[in-house]
Amino acid sequence: MKVLSVVGARPNFMKIAPVHQALLEVGGINSRIVHTGQHYDEKMSDIFFRQLGLPEPHVYLDVHSGSHAEQTGRVMMAFERVVWAEEPDLIIVVGDVNSTLACGLVAAKLHVPLAHVEAGLRSHDRRMPEEINRMVTDRISDHLFVTEQSGIQHLKAEGVPDERVHFVGNVMIDTLLRFRDQAARSDLRNQYSLCQGSYVLVTMHRPSNVDIPEHLEAVVKALELVAQDHPVVFPVHPRTRKYLAQGGGLGRLERHQSIFLMEPVGYVEFVHLMEGAGLVMTDSGGVQEETTVLGVPCLTVRPHTERPVTVDHGTNELIERDPQAIHARVRERMTAPRSNPVMPPLWDGRASHRIARIVAGLS
Ligand code: UD1
Ligand code: UDP
Repeated sequence: MKVLSVVGARPNFMKIAPVHQALLEVGGINSRIVHTGQHYDEKMSDIFFRQLGLPEPHVYLDVHSGSHAEQTGRVMMAFERVVWAEEPDLIIVVGDVNSTLACGLVAAKLHVPLAHVEAGLRSHDRRMPEEINRMVTDRISDHLFVTEQSGIQHLKAEGVPDERVHFVGNVMIDTLLRFRDQAARSDLRNQYSLCQGSYVLVTMHRPSNVDIPEHLEAVVKALELVAQDHPVVFPVHPRTRKYLAQGGGLGRLERHQSIFLMEPVGYVEFVHLMEGAGLVMTDSGGVQEETTVLGVPCLTVRPHTERPVTVDHGTNELIERDPQAIHARVRERMTAPRSNPVMPPLWDGRASHRIARIVAGLS
């Protein structure tokens, strides 16, 4: 059985790494990786292949950045040729990025069975590009692998037949649990003299937070206020760096004595920084899930989350993009005693094995 697994952007690498490994272990599967090249920088792509033990991609499409239509269209044109040549029995896509949607559409049009890992999540906000990608990919998928209960409910409500839906757990957590010990041995906190629990770790890259100048200014202001009390560590996504540079916020943050701006860091280093943080402030999807498992308080600067289990079970809390409100809440949560997180069902490090067993059963 030949399986093509698609990766394109940063969060895809952590999700496909354990799936590829489990497909090899289950036996009888020729597992091949296609990298669309949606993310292409050393720090947004190559480093993850090395750290996560992924093989060199068997196929690289080199599409790079562009408008939504350009990027989606370029992936589709290039991936269609790959599918013609490779003749896979199954295509696996993960998450909600443009590469997920583009390759899913190609699979469906060429009548190749399609599996979507992380199906059923919904923010109910169609202004998020990811929401369109999630909805369309789920609609055309044959096998839907779900991470949390809300996903099952959404797919049921949308009329997806039960036999297509598999509640398997969270492959991103498979990777987190696998690399947690290695992350603990990183030296990065020492290099910045950061004590355990003393600093706020930040990631921010949603268009709604960074593309609009007034919104980005509110984020910058919030960081300046937070940095009055605690060191702020901020590995900056390239999208965010571009808009910070245009708006002048970059210089302000760089000059601030208590704010450590960095290039995006590797996965091992990022898990190390998360585990040592007093609090994480983010708008990332994956980081909400990882902080839930690590038991680190998380403030998500968004009006909604497609991952409600991180709020119900985990340490996550949504907050409006208001500098004073963020400042006040960071203060409260940095000093409040931590409660023991309740692990969401099946976030146990075995999700990719469950997927591999189901995939093997298809042949
Ligand atoms: C994409 C995903 C988003 C995901 C994020 C993870 C879509 C619609 N968005 O957003 O869901 O949360 O990845 O990080 O698929 N750039 C570089 N180097 C790179 C990659 C990007 O400099 O290696 C810059 C380019 O200026 C590019 C911009 O970042 O225009 C945005 O990249 P793009 O892949 O379009 O979207 P992301 O914001 O990264
Ligand atoms: N991450 C990383 N380095 C960083 C920031 C994040 O390795 O500098 C990891 C993080 O631990 C998680 C993934 O990247 O595994 C999340 O990706 P991102 O936030 O880019 O995308 P999203 O999850 O929002 O789609």
